[in-house]
Amino acid sequence: MTKSVFKGRSFLAEKDFTKAELQYLIDFSQHLKELKKKNIPHQYLKGKNIALLFEKTSTRTRAAFTTAAIDLGAHPEYLGANDIQLGKKESTEDTARVLGSMFDGIEFRGFSQQVVEELAEFSGVPVWNGLTDEWHPTQMIADFLTIQENFGQVEGITLAYCGDGRNNMAHSLLVTGAILGTNVRIVAPKELQPDSAIVELATGFAKESGAQLLITADVDEGVLDADVLYTDVWVSMGEEAKFEERVNLLRPYQINQALIDKTQNEKVIVLHCLPAFHDTKTAYGKEIAERFGIHEMEITDEVFRSAYGRQFQQAENRMHSIKAIMAVTLGDLFIPRV
Ligand code: CP
Ligand code: NVA
Repeated sequence: MTKSVFKGRSFLAEKDFTKAELQYLIDFSQHLKELKKKNIPHQYLKGKNIALLFEKTSTRTRAAFTTAAIDLGAHPEYLGANDIQLGKKESTEDTARVLGSMFDGIEFRGFSQQVVEELAEFSGVPVWNGLTDEWHPTQMIADFLTIQENFGQVEGITLAYCGDGRNNMAHSLLVTGAILGTNVRIVAPKELQPDSAIVELATGFAKESGAQLLITADVDEGVLDADVLYTDVWVSMGEEAKFEERVNLLRPYQINQALIDKTQNEKVIVLHCLPAFHDTKTAYGKEIAERFGIHEMEITDEVFRSAYGRQFQQAENRMHSIKAIMAVTLGDLFIPRV
């Protein structure tokens, strides 16, 4: 019998999937969103057990995996960094073998891409990357779904990412856009631009898809005619010692009204994977205000709350897209080709 193209596969990095496969995941997420809104049951994973491993903290990813698993009829179990032996008393390989014998699928969020890859190698069940220092692939399906909802398509759309150009989000946006045929510009100071290996990988995909890629420190050139402005925190999880360096380097890359005006595109939208530092209502926000005298970091409160901002639509889409990823890789859906 023809095998389903997704069944049994892990979702570790975007580069492992074709344009048609990523597009299928976006479209299937949209379908599942419609089913959810219409209250139509979709229990493709009834009776399955899913482990949620979190070395780093999370609101959206954890909530999305939990609610998506429940909607799919599965049982999610949260295993936090301080709850299990992984890393401290037990190797990744041994942990993977044990979890794989009890759970039908495993989500992992943490530091090392190698750990999520080892979990996939030794567990024998689908493993989903809920963010590592290198990639944030489940976020991509939600983000490109949001772009598709706003513009009707992802191909030919121009996305300008302003900020830390060498973090997981910048990597994932550059490579995913390159695969899907979305033009991606990484607008970042020289010190924070992506490594050449990531740029080469993306350039290879762009040759196939026709996506135009640009890495630039020049804000005016980077955002002109952009359809989507994207930003992320200036300091990612695990890099909290770098606030001073990042505040100094990234202030000119803040998404504010003046930067929106530079796009010269009235229909531009703003995306942010969240959490965002747009005010001083957080512990870090307060600390940064005291140390550096700024009350907003990567995005101003004005823009965050404006009609340009689609970050909460994007956040909701995390749930629908994670549901799609789990359903096609673990469920018995018959998808012989995409
Ligand atoms: N965007 C995102 O991954 O959010 P969390 O860190 O809250 O999961
Ligand atoms: N770059 C951020 C993304 C958070 C969703 C981080 O790794 O902290």
